[in-house]
Amino acid sequence: MPISYSPEKKIFSLHTDRSTYQLAVDGFGALLHLYYGARCEGEAEYLLTFADRGFSGNPYAAGDDRTWSYDALPQEFPAWGSGDFRAPCLGVRAADGTAGCALRYREHEILPGKYALPGLPAAYAEDGDEAETLKIELSDERLGLSVTLLYGVLPHCDVITRSVIVQNRGEETLTLGRLQSACLDFVGGDYDLVTFPGRYALERQFDRRELGRGTHAIGSRRGYSSHQYNPFVILCDRDATESAGRVWGMELVWSGGFLAEAERDQLSQTRLSIGMDEVQTAYPLAPGESICAPEVILSYSAAGFERLSHNLHRCLRSRVRRGRYREERTPILLNSWEASYFDFTGESLLTLAEGAAKLGVEMLVMDDGWFGARRDDKSSLGDWTVNEEKLGMPLGELARRVNALGLKFGIWMEPEMISEDSELCRAHPDWVLAVPGQAPVRSRSQLVLDFSREEVREHIFRAICAVLDSANIEYLKWDLNRSIADVYSHAAPDQGRVLYQNMLGVYEVLEKLCARYPDLLIEGCSGGGGRFDAGMLHYCPQIWCSDNTDAIDRLFIQHGTSFGYPAVSVGSHVSICPNHQTGRTTPFETRGAVAAAGTFGYELDPAQLTGEECAAVKEQIAAYKADAALVRDGFYYRLSDPAKDVCCAWVFVAEDGSEARLSAVLREKHANEPAHYIRLRGLTPGARYRARETGRVYSVDALMDAGLPLPLDCREYGSFTLHLERE
Ligand code: GLA
Repeated sequence: MPISYSPEKKIFSLHTDRSTYQLAVDGFGALLHLYYGARCEGEAEYLLTFADRGFSGNPYAAGDDRTWSYDALPQEFPAWGSGDFRAPCLGVRAADGTAGCALRYREHEILPGKYALPGLPAAYAEDGDEAETLKIELSDERLGLSVTLLYGVLPHCDVITRSVIVQNRGEETLTLGRLQSACLDFVGGDYDLVTFPGRYALERQFDRRELGRGTHAIGSRRGYSSHQYNPFVILCDRDATESAGRVWGMELVWSGGFLAEAERDQLSQTRLSIGMDEVQTAYPLAPGESICAPEVILSYSAAGFERLSHNLHRCLRSRVRRGRYREERTPILLNSWEASYFDFTGESLLTLAEGAAKLGVEMLVMDDGWFGARRDDKSSLGDWTVNEEKLGMPLGELARRVNALGLKFGIWMEPEMISEDSELCRAHPDWVLAVPGQAPVRSRSQLVLDFSREEVREHIFRAICAVLDSANIEYLKWDLNRSIADVYSHAAPDQGRVLYQNMLGVYEVLEKLCARYPDLLIEGCSGGGGRFDAGMLHYCPQIWCSDNTDAIDRLFIQHGTSFGYPAVSVGSHVSICPNHQTGRTTPFETRGAVAAAGTFGYELDPAQLTGEECAAVKEQIAAYKADAALVRDGFYYRLSDPAKDVCCAWVFVAEDGSEARLSAVLREKHANEPAHYIRLRGLTPGARYRARETGRVYSVDALMDAGLPLPLDCREYGSFTLHLERE
């Protein structure tokens, strides 16, 4: 069984195929973390060491034993005012402002299957046997506080999920000041911290740093997960590489603001934690009320970053994403944004669709600008009525005519937002998040709708349904183009709950849409990849990875993204050159190779393509379709680090090793330069592979050891693709 409990030692052991996680109830009822690492049998309580550490106090019940200190022992769910002076998971204040909290074990349950969370996205199991759940209830009797720790074990994904429900069972309101979903305490070791910082149009850049004494924190106070930091962190051995060393990942299944902290303490112990940001967690808990922290997915790899990524890819791809497109290839689409921005009519879109149909594209997406009086980005968000005057036809007719060309039809919306210049804002100014008496912060000339209010959610849900029901719409790009600055709801009795309730409100609308339109493909988007997280993937099988479609910049963006997220979720398109974001010109083939490491599509006007490029599109589409299963189910190996290597390479390998697709892009070229050797990984040792393109047969061991030279005639920004089939 994945979860076991030893009543003599009071130790819980959680096993996945390749990892073990252990925690223990100590003699005073507190919960200690013991171990998270390679799968092992037996208990690891011997890892705890005891000494009088000086100024590390002791629980009163320990009497004269000065060696028992929660400031020095690894904790499972530490709280403010418990004698542990490191960064806690829980901060709670009683009505009189005191912050003391002593959580003690009450009871536990081991249940078949994977727990679900109320109103929140979470990983799931397909059937009862696939997962197990551990629930541990802790309480602080003085506060009337109950804390239920939830653990989900998905053995075959090598993943353990955690969440926590905090309930006020007392008589007075409590205020949460901090609520991390989970922490991992490490008693020894020297670690590096890996995070994925970025900015608009350059999201999720790989950032690795040595973790010294003190705290390194990243997060978002923007109400959303953000372009600037991603809710995914890795702690690893200092010498960990792609294929060796111990690596731990924490990935939040949450799209709101967050906080991730790594702290190295006085005893060189390390604590890694992740959860909601402090703005949301200044949360009032009235008697009887509870709050559920977002889920965090934990995974451990003893074999470097790539196995960690494979574990997370498998979990997100098939146990977080849902619906028809979990298994099915999503349609190859042409999006109108870079083709015509706001400047289109129904007829011009039909011309795009005609061009796209001839090339083998499967869906036309009408981006921003089709509703209300929207001519640019200054108006009409909230007015989700079709601008038939601009389109020159009803939406139903446009969709019908697109369908008649053999294409599916999709649309863009930004449901969480409102323009001041909109009918909706004039009718319901109080539906905007804005602090009374303070002018709100504008961003992209727009304000934020208050999704914490039921009537707002209901109105927007109905508006979306009205559009979706009016035409054969098979795809919705759900966008979000600003951060939340003004946190005030005109309907909330207490403003401390607003941000959290707002995020849950967004999830509620998405959940209702998924239920009502099971065949609708929703692509997440936030000014590109500003909300690229496991929470959104529960509703949107794919997310537009970045507004930056430049193939060279995308090497960096998709490299960073690949650590935590499967390629099949990465929205990636071929666009026109010079590239609209960077002005760079890259070969059409290279743009295709880079986009083919994601969901694949086009962001251009086919009329602007040369005959040669049109032929290339047809080939790219055929090749992408042929490789779709490899991209979806295969293992993705990073073969380079774009920040260090000019030859950027990656390979998808089928799960059974029978075939592989290698791609490489040369991002910088010098005259008479040495050859670049690409060392493959993941192929079947001892086997021979035939290259489909050349017929050449390779001994795989040499390919993985000495590598394969990138053809010397590869130009700057050129690319190279090779399919390998096992003989
Ligand atoms: C955001 C998206 C783009 C496009 C525009 C439309 O920036 O990321 O792809 O949809 O909005 O306004």
